[in-house]
Amino acid sequence: MRLSEEEKDFIAGKQGPGARRAMEILVALGKVFHADRMVAVSSAQIAGVSYRNIGDAGLDFLSDWAGMGATARIPAFMNPAGIDRVLWREMCIPAHFADRQCAIIHQLERMGVQDTLTCTPYHIGHTPEPNQHIAWSESSAVSYANSVLGARTNREGGPSALAAAITGRVPECGLHLDENRRATHHIIVKCAIETPADYSALGYHIGKIVGAGVPFFEGLKIDANSWKSQTCFKALGAAMAASGAVALYHIDGITPEAVHNRKDILSDMKESHTVSDIDDIRKALSKSGGKLDLVALGCPHVSLDELKNIAGLIGDDRLKTPLWITTSKQIRHEADAAGITTHIKNAGGLIIADTCMVVAPLDQIGYHNIAVDSAKAACYLPSHQGAHVYWGSTEQCIDAARRGQWIS
Ligand code: F3S
Repeated sequence: MRLSEEEKDFIAGKQGPGARRAMEILVALGKVFHADRMVAVSSAQIAGVSYRNIGDAGLDFLSDWAGMGATARIPAFMNPAGIDRVLWREMCIPAHFADRQCAIIHQLERMGVQDTLTCTPYHIGHTPEPNQHIAWSESSAVSYANSVLGARTNREGGPSALAAAITGRVPECGLHLDENRRATHHIIVKCAIETPADYSALGYHIGKIVGAGVPFFEGLKIDANSWKSQTCFKALGAAMAASGAVALYHIDGITPEAVHNRKDILSDMKESHTVSDIDDIRKALSKSGGKLDLVALGCPHVSLDELKNIAGLIGDDRLKTPLWITTSKQIRHEADAAGITTHIKNAGGLIIADTCMVVAPLDQIGYHNIAVDSAKAACYLPSHQGAHVYWGSTEQCIDAARRGQWIS
């Protein structure tokens, strides 16, 4: 790789041993992916925060790196952890787990990483500009940043995103380059796709078809200016990143590159698929009715508008099954001020910050039968938590919480 003088200084240890380690990681990755050089990035989103995922080995790794004096030189923020730092006792999370989790967050804070603890940083002001290079690592956030915001990021691993935060660089490869942002699959949608659940089901289906490709959707009618469109974009991208490895998609006439570079991004499409009906996809995701331990919404983390909508769906009813709605602490503060937190709590639900149903230790808490409205959560909960999952629309999930059981 061709390195700038500044980048060579990192390797020489002039910014300290922690920064040298960061640049060494990035150079090694650059060689693997045949990058010619580094590119400057303006923000980093760091995954691999949950104690459930990284354990004591991960905590030791972060402590060691922080001890070398490494600090972020660009805005850097954390993906969800394994606990809500305020409500972890109410969530019945073991004290040892909470203690270890706080230690991980502390080590990242020592390195200048902000404790946002969310996979939707764009809901709390971390919104990159179109064409801006960034280093984000949570798959749904990566998809949203690339596809909806028009920024440029690969799906970084936790250590490489942290290395990017410390150096302000990533190897120039993958989705940082125009040629890799072209569509590979033409998806022609001929049925009505309207609700977030529809987008979630469509994404689940298309992710399986295209794998790590770049789908170009034709036939989706979505009002990009409504808050519901954000929810639909999130649901589509999160599902495709979970059932496949999609990090970028285009929607004809709507997403930035499908509006401004349409001709360029269409030049490489090799495959075409038509979607005429999503009923079978819904059935594949849904399970027959049964016992319910938890209804978990907020994958990806919800916006304030989504919280208002959920509160409206609950109305004045009491819920029979525990309900978690996951988001960032900033959005919860806004919900507190709007009276939404109290409304949901009075019904028997909790707005949970800092964590989510996939990275919290649900199995240790004793939740095994879980209803979700996210195809991503439906993909991951069985493999990550050994859970039995029911998937349906947000309305179906609230209805199930009200009844205390899932009815298919
Ligand atoms: Fe976010 Fe957790 Fe889902 S990190 S996308 S809420 S699995």
